[in-house]
Amino acid sequence: MTSNQATSPAWRDLFRVLVVVVLFWVLAAHWELSEKLAHTLQSYERFQLDEVPLTLLVLSIGLAWFAFQRTHEVSELLVANRHLTQRLMSAQEDERRTLAQELHDEVGQACTALRIEAAYITKTIHSNPSAALEAAQRIDQSSLRMHSLARDMLKRLRPPNLDSLGLAESIQELCTSWERHCHIQCHCLMNNLPHGLPDVLCTALYRVTQEALTNIAKHAQASQVWISLHAHQDVLTLSISDNGRGLQQGSNKTQGLGLTGMRERVASLHGHIHFEDAQPGLRIHVEVPISKASS
Ligand SMILES: Nc1ncnc2c1ncn2[C@@H]1O[C@H](COP(=O)(O)OP(=O)(O)OP(=O)(O)O)[C@@H](O)[C@H]1O
Ligand SMILES: [Mg+2]
Repeated sequence: MTSNQATSPAWRDLFRVLVVVVLFWVLAAHWELSEKLAHTLQSYERFQLDEVPLTLLVLSIGLAWFAFQRTHEVSELLVANRHLTQRLMSAQEDERRTLAQELHDEVGQACTALRIEAAYITKTIHSNPSAALEAAQRIDQSSLRMHSLARDMLKRLRPPNLDSLGLAESIQELCTSWERHCHIQCHCLMNNLPHGLPDVLCTALYRVTQEALTNIAKHAQASQVWISLHAHQDVLTLSISDNGRGLQQGSNKTQGLGLTGMRERVASLHGHIHFEDAQPGLRIHVEVPISKASS
């Protein structure tokens, strides 16, 4: 849609308002409406009804100011939205570039190495069987490395199968592997969650936890993390706390996408999210109504 197409309905509406105002002015002048109104209201002067026209004029000026302010806010939101979309697209591009680079560097080279080792085995299998055996062991090691690389890439592209593992176990697995990589203790407390939680809810809470843990590793300088996930009646509550430096003044207003993404995911499920400076550390508290998640 061009900007011309986008703005023309607004100009058309303004034109209609002006036409109605001019028409009203002509008819009011013709029938002397103000004089008649003033005359009628004069007889109710003791109820101060003669002040109504001026009061209505002030009200319409007030409403025009209110509309102008809201329009201004909406255009600021649109600019912020466009900016976020651009950041999201460039983040996706970055991730694709990194994956492509890893595929090229790791998988491409590993395949070449495997082919060289296989050719070496074919050549030496009769003349030097022990060298051929060592080459076969190197192939085994390389294929193990490739397998774990492929698993890491798949996990980044898609969360592990939440359907088969369940939300609690997927988050538990995420914490265990994060703890191993980041050397920060992560304590998980999950009580029995109801079966058959909507997929969209599980994916959202998994991604919120993933981003919170990434942020803790990147920004918090924490040594301990606590994650709790429990359901009470229709509400699923997720809480992630760390004992790090906490949100610095205004730090959640940076250009990062993580906190915004968390807010949007939770809002799309009709839930609430709070970022609370727990001193020390940051506490993220999420509440989501289960029954509304699939609607
Ligand atoms: N656990 C935390 N402890 C301390 N500061 C935090 C924590 N989580 C977030 N922050 C602060 O909030 C800011 C915004 O986080 P956000 O996840 O939105 O962006 P980012 O991590 O900087 O970038 P991105 O997530 O887009 O890669 C961070 O720059 C950091 O200063
Ligand atoms: Mg982040």
